[in-house]
Amino acid sequence: MSAQASQTGHALQRVLTLCGQLNAERELPRLLELIAREGSKILDCERVTIFLLDRERCELISQVTLDGEKIRLDARLGIAGACAMTGQMIKVEDAQQDQRFYTAVDARTSFQTRSVLAIPLRNPADDVIGTFQCLNKRSGSFTPDDEQTASTLAKQAAIAIETANLVQNLTQQRVQLEAENTQLRKEVEGRFSTQNIIGTSDTIQLIIRLIDQIRDSSVDVLITGESGTGKEMVAKAIHYNSPRARRPFVAINCAAMPDTLIESELFGHEKGSFTDAQARRIGKFEEANGGTLFLDEIGDLSPAAQVKILRVLQERVLDRVGGRTSIPVDVRVIAATNADLDHAIKAGRFRTDLYFRLKVVTIHTPALRDIREDIPLLARVFLQRYCQAMGTPQKSFSAGAIRCLAQHDWLGNVRELENEIKRLVVSTRRATIAEEDLSEAVRTAASRPGAPYGSTGRSLKNAVEELEKRLIADALKRCRRNQVQAARLLGLSRQGLIKKMQRYGLKSS
Ligand SMILES: Nc1ncnc2c1ncn2[C@@H]1O[C@H](COP(=O)(O)OP(=O)(O)OP(=O)(O)O)[C@@H](O)[C@H]1O
Ligand SMILES: [Mg+2]
Repeated sequence: MSAQASQTGHALQRVLTLCGQLNAERELPRLLELIAREGSKILDCERVTIFLLDRERCELISQVTLDGEKIRLDARLGIAGACAMTGQMIKVEDAQQDQRFYTAVDARTSFQTRSVLAIPLRNPADDVIGTFQCLNKRSGSFTPDDEQTASTLAKQAAIAIETANLVQNLTQQRVQLEAENTQLRKEVEGRFSTQNIIGTSDTIQLIIRLIDQIRDSSVDVLITGESGTGKEMVAKAIHYNSPRARRPFVAINCAAMPDTLIESELFGHEKGSFTDAQARRIGKFEEANGGTLFLDEIGDLSPAAQVKILRVLQERVLDRVGGRTSIPVDVRVIAATNADLDHAIKAGRFRTDLYFRLKVVTIHTPALRDIREDIPLLARVFLQRYCQAMGTPQKSFSAGAIRCLAQHDWLGNVRELENEIKRLVVSTRRATIAEEDLSEAVRTAASRPGAPYGSTGRSLKNAVEELEKRLIADALKRCRRNQVQAARLLGLSRQGLIKKMQRYGLKSS
């Protein structure tokens, strides 16, 4: 082997050793420094400078200068620029005699360039990402062997730079996402904390206390109450106040699911377990693992699903539909119903054992007409909230308006009250909301001075409206909230039904 060949082999050997170090370095500035330092030793030159190309601004950026500052220069200038723009290697014996030579950098770095070997840095997709530039060969000039060594080194350096860039971007994104995530979590936890449960009545205060008492345990909970009384709100308050808050809260409406689908929805299924099961699917129980599963309208569960749920509650394991092995799950179950479960049990539609298993901790959310003392506070808080949300100046209620609100029966409960206030914020221009601004049904409640709050002594219009609301709620339930079918059953158009549902604060799903 000739002396020259052995020298080249030696240089390549050193490049190889350097590669190991490059691969281990993920910090871009340190990586560039390492390439420059070791590169100049391997190539026996005074300096190696790495320029990275900023295509958008057509600039070359050098990270390494003597004072640790970055240099930015126009990529159309200088030898390094010509190399990056053409993608060609450039070798210059005497830079001072070369027209392309750009003196400003030398001036900046107090360096005197003599010979230059500039190699384009290319990423694995073959795009030029910068220039690898060797300056002032210590003895003689840059040889073809130097070109080969420098090219090999530049290739490895480009890969390491791309990787470091990628890692840097990912790290930055992760830090940003984590910050966003923490912020969002705080918002969600704040939004669903017990502080947002409004009411000074004993009943509401008792509920708040109970939520606090059970927060650290994983005990399952049954929430009963009419539609719109805050069952889901209570369920979320339990979850977001518990140690499970950082894990998922998963809600499923058992009434909105056909019996045939509910099992696979809850427990998941294995591929091919039934005709259209194309792929394996995780069920809601598994999705909620570590967190809370909210089973809404549990009274509507099919008997088969009831058995399976009982097994999960008792043994904390589940079987996917078509699956052979049991999967352990750690889920707190909060079930809710606005139906009379006792009645469902007597009719044989609900399992007694499941009922007893669930009802250990029961929370009953009161109908709004049973906590009338909370109506003024609720109304004022909602008014303030929606004025703020809609960017309108704050409004207030006249004493008469508050009296009407407190006397109305609110069959749609807090949801109906909330909808009434939302509507008032949009429709009232004056700063004080008066009696006559209220919707007719609410107003008529007060036109019966001294009238009892119950179902007697009300106006015909009021009574008819209440009956109408009950019929709509009932039809929706019977049709599993399918609005087209419910509208048909009631002899209404779908649009007509939706209008009435909105007016009465009935939920669409
Ligand atoms: N005490 C309360 N304080 C503040 N907001 C309340 C209160 N009770 C209910 N709400 C609000 O009323 C609306 C309806 O509540 P939610 O959806 O929890 O009722 P629900 O009992 O689950 O009704 P449904 O049976 O129809 O599903 C929500 O916007 C909720 O935030
Ligand atoms: Mg609900």
